[in-house]
Amino acid sequence: MENKTVFKLFAVSQPGIEKITLLELEDLGIKGKNVPGGVEFRGGLKELYLSNLWLRTANRILVRVASFKVTAFSELVKKVSRYPWDIYFPFSQKVRIRVTCRKSKLYHSKAVAERVLKGIHHRLKHKLEKAQFEDEGTSIIVRIDNDFCTISVSSSGISLHKRGYRVVETEAPLRETLASAMILASGWDRKTPLVDPFCGSGTISIEAALIGGNIPPGLNREFAFMKWKNFDESLWNQILEDARKNMKDFPEVYGFDISERAIKAAIKNAKAAGVKVSFKVASFPEDGVPPLVYVITNPPYGKRIKVNAEKVYKKFGNWLKKSFSGYKVGFLAPYDRLASATGIKCKKILSFSNGGIRVNLYCNR
Ligand SMILES: C[S@@+](CC[C@H](N)C(=O)[O-])C[C@H]1O[C@@H](n2cnc3c(N)ncnc32)[C@H](O)[C@@H]1O
Repeated sequence: MENKTVFKLFAVSQPGIEKITLLELEDLGIKGKNVPGGVEFRGGLKELYLSNLWLRTANRILVRVASFKVTAFSELVKKVSRYPWDIYFPFSQKVRIRVTCRKSKLYHSKAVAERVLKGIHHRLKHKLEKAQFEDEGTSIIVRIDNDFCTISVSSSGISLHKRGYRVVETEAPLRETLASAMILASGWDRKTPLVDPFCGSGTISIEAALIGGNIPPGLNREFAFMKWKNFDESLWNQILEDARKNMKDFPEVYGFDISERAIKAAIKNAKAAGVKVSFKVASFPEDGVPPLVYVITNPPYGKRIKVNAEKVYKKFGNWLKKSFSGYKVGFLAPYDRLASATGIKCKKILSFSNGGIRVNLYCNR
């Protein structure tokens, strides 16, 4: 029988790219509301599956399971035990509980985590074990704000940026979700040839090929909701079948890098992703690239990779102006002066943290 439950859902995205996640949801026909750190929306199993499968810029999709007022630990255990935890944890498994408390009588996060687990155990006939490692087990997110507690469960399992194709890493790789946010924010039409002249392990090129080919980023991975009691396998298979039917031919995508090791990694990663990208060891090549291009890139800006960043950005700008009859560009830089070194007139479109360093996306559109 069709499950008609409407869930309160939350797409967690990195601060600074929430508005791109909202646009992605709208493309799926789902209405949402931006709040710091993500997008709130409502939906049934269909929306839950679609958002996990398709969102390229979200880290996880949370389901709000419980919300109540609380001021004492005994009350917390009792209220938690009233919710149907067996739907989300139908068997013994590892969980990771993250707690934040603000302006509340209950402020000791470790004690809150213990009581929440105790309350869940009252409801279940089996035990949940605490996960030891990052990205191990299903996340339970507890927030107590002004004595009001909300508890959410991640429906995604391991973070959605892990598409399953990054088999080799190189120096300073970009998160897959951020690479996609750059491409989507830059307004690429998904047809014009796209070039990344500092491609490293190929993240931007691979994400672009997935976007151009209309391939969902989660096509080759598992999700936590597949183990839930309410998993609707036929609905899920229908969603996958629709996605496969709507795939498109790959656009032309080029990735260049001065490092042979990086290009070898990029080729392996693209193969694992099942996408077509043309990779070559080269520094600002003068031929073999069409005259009209979209350039989306993450140059070495001298923080994680030691280079004379101003010199590299200047060379990059000169290469664009000299080699192409027309180009649109989107590139990362940690500050305006470095962006200006390219000599290209551009606007700051997004601002987010990349590996602990604040960077901006500059575009000339
Ligand atoms: C920040 S990393 C790019 C990381 C990439 N976005 C990824 O996800 O793996 C910058 C890359 O620029 C390359 N590079 C540095 N100087 C270069 C140059 N003059 N020409 C081409 N590539 C260069 C480095 O080898 C490095 O792989």
